[in-house]
Formats: sequence, C-alpha cells, structure tokens
Amino acid sequence: MNILISAERIQERVRTMAAEISADYRDRPLTILGVLTGSLMFLADLVRHLDLPIRIGLVQASSYRGAATTPGELRIHPELLPDVRNRHVLLLDDILDTGRTLSRLAEHLRSLEVASLRIAVLCRKIGRQEVPLEPDYQGFEIPNEFVVGYGLDYNDEYRHLPFVAVLPQIESTQD
Ligand code: XMP
Repeated sequence: MNILISAERIQERVRTMAAEISADYRDRPLTILGVLTGSLMFLADLVRHLDLPIRIGLVQASSYRGAATTPGELRIHPELLPDVRNRHVLLLDDILDTGRTLSRLAEHLRSLEVASLRIAVLCRKIGRQEVPLEPDYQGFEIPNEFVVGYGLDYNDEYRHLPFVAVLPQIESTQD
C-alpha cells in the first residue's frame, strides 16, 4: 500500500489543528459534530487535544458506496444530531472531495439556527471540488486518488489503519 500520510504526520497535524481551534474558540463551549463514519479517528484524536468545554455529536450522511466517485442523493439522518440551536458548532469530516456532503450538511445546520458554524477536514483532494466551500481547518491536501485509512474506507474496510494510503488496485478508477 502506498502510504500518503504517515501516522506520525497525522498525529502532529491533529495536535497543531487542535491548538488552533482551542485558540480560536478560547473558552467558548463548542459542539463537535463528526460525520459518520469516516471522521471517527480524526474526532477521537482531535478532541483529546482540545482545551475547551466541548460536547460531541454525530451526524450521518451518505453519498458514497465503495469506490464510486459519482455522488448519489445525500441523505441526512437527523435523529443522531444533538440540539445545536444557538450553539457554536464545528463540523468534522475525513475528506473534502466534491464538497457536496459538507455543503449540504452546513446548509442543514444553518437551518437549525446554530450560533456559528465552522468546518474541519483532515484531507482535501486537489482538483475535485464541485461546490464552493472553504474549510476553516484543513489537515492535508492530497492528490486525486481513492484513499483509505484513519477512518477512510473501501467497502467499510481499512478504517482502522493509523495512516492514509492509496489502494493500488483502484488507483485507476479515479478520473
Ligand atoms: P464529497 O464529494 O461530498 O465527499 O466531498 C465526501 C465523502 O466522500 C467519501 N470519499 C472518500 N472516502 N476515500 C474514502 O474512503 C476517498 O478517497 C474518498 N473520497 C470521498 C467520504 O465518505 C467523504 O466523507
């Protein structure tokens, strides 16, 4: 497997991102919302470095199956969402690809009258974005490859890997 981002680099970047977030919010209570399932590792590592009063919630939105690169209809499952009205919310995802998932989720959260909304992503694919969205915190820019590890999956496998890697057999499926 071709390792794109080592476990050490991920841990170091997550630590510096947590310091940025702690400084930006100072002591304001923050609701961290992780997008299931890919953000789980990122969320678990990030929150342990945050020096803030925080609540943790999860939101499920699905647009991808396996290595498919054409997003289907995005479904949001609001039953997992905590009460976010008047709360400062930081939405967390593993990867920003076309931007459709996060922009749709952001639109949904704004409709719930959050006090503020910011977005953090671990990875951002270069040259794939289709809708305008600028994350407030971004870990790494990566090339246009299908990646797995550190929460990212291929058919629900590989999420547990501590690094981010390209799966050789599907490298050619990306356009
Ligand atoms: P969009 O296109 O809405 O996609 O920004 C975000 C979601 O798509 C999934 N995704 C990937 N998952 N390896 C993965 O394991 C990838 O290379 C990849 N690219 C996109 C992911 O679920 C993300 O939340």
